[in-house]
Amino acid sequence: MFAPCSLGQWPSPLEPHPGLARASGLQTLWLKREDRSGGNKMRGLEFLLAGAPPRSVFVTIGGTGSSHCLATARASRQLGHRTGLALFPQPETDASRRISDAISDTSPLVMRASSLVTLPWTVMRVWRAAHRLGAGTPRWIPGGGADPRAVLGHLLAALELGTQLDSPPDAIVVPLGTGGTAAGIALGVAWLGWSTEVIAVRVAPRIVANRWRTLRLARNAAALLRRSGIEFNVPRAAIRVRVVDAAGAGYGHPTPEGARARAIAAHHGVELEPTYGAKAFSIFLRRPDVNVQRAVFWHTFAWPRP
Ligand SMILES: Cc1ncc(COP(=O)(O)O)c(C=O)c1O
Repeated sequence: MFAPCSLGQWPSPLEPHPGLARASGLQTLWLKREDRSGGNKMRGLEFLLAGAPPRSVFVTIGGTGSSHCLATARASRQLGHRTGLALFPQPETDASRRISDAISDTSPLVMRASSLVTLPWTVMRVWRAAHRLGAGTPRWIPGGGADPRAVLGHLLAALELGTQLDSPPDAIVVPLGTGGTAAGIALGVAWLGWSTEVIAVRVAPRIVANRWRTLRLARNAAALLRRSGIEFNVPRAAIRVRVVDAAGAGYGHPTPEGARARAIAAHHGVELEPTYGAKAFSIFLRRPDVNVQRAVFWHTFAWPRP
């Protein structure tokens, strides 16, 4: 029933960073380099795009600098499919500008809403235009790829981590956007029987980025596995996520704490961007709010390459 397609090169490396650990007040820090295989979204897309007939058209939404939209467009093209994208405005940063340019170069159908209010109208226009783009009825992918099938890809990433570490870390820190990544990690941690805290750092509005939605995605993914005959029995209480807020003025708005985290990481040779990575990393600088010693940081953002 689950036959994911292949988009990334796994396992993604797990790198220890002693210098950055010291600078962040940690005993040990590892980076899970999801960025090295096209970014975290590739994990989910391996399941979301699997099995689609040739020349399918996928429609999805995101901000103008959405790595989810870019990853969907790139992966679709790689597999001979097309994408239609409806984008909403977000603050311009170095990263969002580069993603936005790469989206324009990759996707044959991109429409930009003037605001969130007009987004539904833009989605409808993209959906209509998508019918003329490829074969069959377009397929909808929710914003951020937040779907239980995609969670399975992130679950595999967490199981991969289980093979890369000798003992469980105190915490895994991951940016929280639409929840699929954190859901998969939480599910993996539960399956491994680890007591590790999954710290999901909220960088998007509460309505999309919240604990309830993340846990629901995780439980639905577990149910999906069980329905397909896989004995995936983890106690409900073992699936845990702690949400920490670092959104600041809102999605895509850089924060001073994020800028500080970005500068510290850059000093140690780690490149973060302001929307996800920098905000998520900034929580290490927020003691005693986040008091951990051995942490894994989920490095999710892949800078677009030409
Ligand atoms: C670079 C990056 N990191 C983290 C996330 C958050 O992942 P999720 O939406 O699964 O919570 C996203 C979501 O778009 C992302 O693009």
